[in-house]
Amino acid sequence: MQIYHTIKGLREALSAHRREGLKIGFVPTMGNLHDGHLALVTQAQQTNDIVVCSIFVNALQFGLNEDWDKYPRTFAADCQKLRASGCDYLFNPDDTEMYPNGLDTQSRVICPTMTDMLCGASRPGHFEGVTTVVSKLFHIVQPDESIFGLKDYQQLAVIRRMVEDLCLPVKIVAAPIFREPDGLAMSSRNSFITPRERPRATVLIDTLSWLAGQISAGNSGFSELEIQARERIAEGGFTADYVTVCHSKTLELAAADDRDLTILGAMYTESARLIDNLSIRIGQP
Ligand code: PAJ
Repeated sequence: MQIYHTIKGLREALSAHRREGLKIGFVPTMGNLHDGHLALVTQAQQTNDIVVCSIFVNALQFGLNEDWDKYPRTFAADCQKLRASGCDYLFNPDDTEMYPNGLDTQSRVICPTMTDMLCGASRPGHFEGVTTVVSKLFHIVQPDESIFGLKDYQQLAVIRRMVEDLCLPVKIVAAPIFREPDGLAMSSRNSFITPRERPRATVLIDTLSWLAGQISAGNSGFSELEIQARERIAEGGFTADYVTVCHSKTLELAAADDRDLTILGAMYTESARLIDNLSIRIGQP
């Protein structure tokens, strides 16, 4: 695996492959890689000739009181894992390389839909930071395909919309959620969960599954179900940020006759904020 820290170096290396007509797949990450990230690399390898991964902890998508400084940085271990997975290139720029003029005056990519709700409501500016850095990374790597995890469902929906709105020539591919054996979705932020809390942290996915069961059984009283879901999370010892039943594509609040539903949830532990989601199709045989 070749590692580049500069845009110029990576571009030169990739343009040679592009001239050879090779297909480039791209997996953007913030590092502290786990099996969920590595599955995205494996998925990218299946439909591309060259796979590029990036590791960049993007300050622009963290709020002032959030965990940018605490975010786990494990570069040496990440490199080992990527090498073992057969990744071809790693792009690991520093802040000056990505934001040479500083954050404040950086031009932004703003997606006006789906960014103020759910995670966007509790993390103002977060998705603007994501769409800005992802579009920069797309311009740097110029991939044919880019793989994103369904774990960050809202992020994936926003990126799909950005790509459509801006006619970006990249195919966005979704990858399934990777989970720990007990069902907790893998996340770099799981390392913040205290050992005392960890056995109970599955209450988020358990609650979303319970809600999905209720809806599949014909209960379309979504608001009442959401209230009960928050209570279940509270009984587990955590504070729900939101539990919402949404239309899978628009992320608007689900209507009773919607068929493709995604139930999204976020909750606070003592020192982490965890998210998860579950999609269901109603009325299919
Ligand atoms: P990060 O949280 O490192 O995630 C990188 C990619 O891995 C995202 O597409 C995310 O959805 C996926 N991923 C994380 N956990 C996963 C799991 N348990 N199963 C499947 N996929 C999983 O998301 C970001 O970084 C950043 O916002 C980024 C897109 C890199 C922009 O900075």
